[in-house]
Amino acid sequence: MLKRIQRSVEFIKSKINFEPEVGIILGSGLGNLVKEIIIQKTIPYKEIQDFPISTVEGHEGNLIFGTLSGRNIIAMQGRFHYYEGHSMDDVTLPVRVMKQLGIKLLIVSNASGGMNPDFKIGDIMLIKDHINLMPNPLIGKNEKSLGERFPDMSEAYDRRILNEARTIAKELNIKVHEGVYAGVTGPTFETPSEYRYFRIIGADAVGMSTVPEVIVARHMKLPVFALSVITDLGIANQVETVSHQEVLEAAANTQPKMTAIIKQLLTKKDIF
Ligand code: HPA
Repeated sequence: MLKRIQRSVEFIKSKINFEPEVGIILGSGLGNLVKEIIIQKTIPYKEIQDFPISTVEGHEGNLIFGTLSGRNIIAMQGRFHYYEGHSMDDVTLPVRVMKQLGIKLLIVSNASGGMNPDFKIGDIMLIKDHINLMPNPLIGKNEKSLGERFPDMSEAYDRRILNEARTIAKELNIKVHEGVYAGVTGPTFETPSEYRYFRIIGADAVGMSTVPEVIVARHMKLPVFALSVITDLGIANQVETVSHQEVLEAAANTQPKMTAIIKQLLTKKDIF
């Protein structure tokens, strides 16, 4: 794994002259933030030998280097999911690579199904914690140079940044919820009983990504800020059919608000 990280980092460094401060993972239907970036360089995943190929509609596969709100960032336009058949090492490789490239903060976005009865389609949920219902990406020999064997998870989502994001949303007049994200493998959406179960165990939203990336980031002590766009509802007696297309559309409608929060967050000089 270290070899794959190192090879990817060296390849990327040979293509850019750039010190990134922040990594941003753009979720399903949430790739439009890229239009706001002053782009210096785009590297398709397929040019990076060790990167897997993303196979899902709505997920382009590019690493984008540029500035957003005056900050040097790397944006991942499209991510890798466990349900595509990638290993957890594959799913999380880009996070490890971005850390080695120098990022000090990871911002993660996703589309998710809402179980909290206060949620509506198109709402934003700032993630304050998660419940991991996928295989843990750190299973296997621990790579000491990356982090410790038993990483602490008491504050997986940086509280100071979360507080800042809440204030920003208020200032921008954007309604946001805060809640717990349950990470599942997919690719099936949930049965009504599964949505009820995830609600009972304490989750507000459920989705098929984010948690592996966050675990790997925290293993490396990288601070994380994450947010979900609620694209469908799994609320008791309100569960309707859901399709990937609906998820993409709902995400697309909400992405300007998500982009506004992230852009404003990056203007804050002292958050990390
Ligand atoms: N469940 C799981 N993953 C999802 C959902 C959902 O309802 N919506 C978007 N991603």
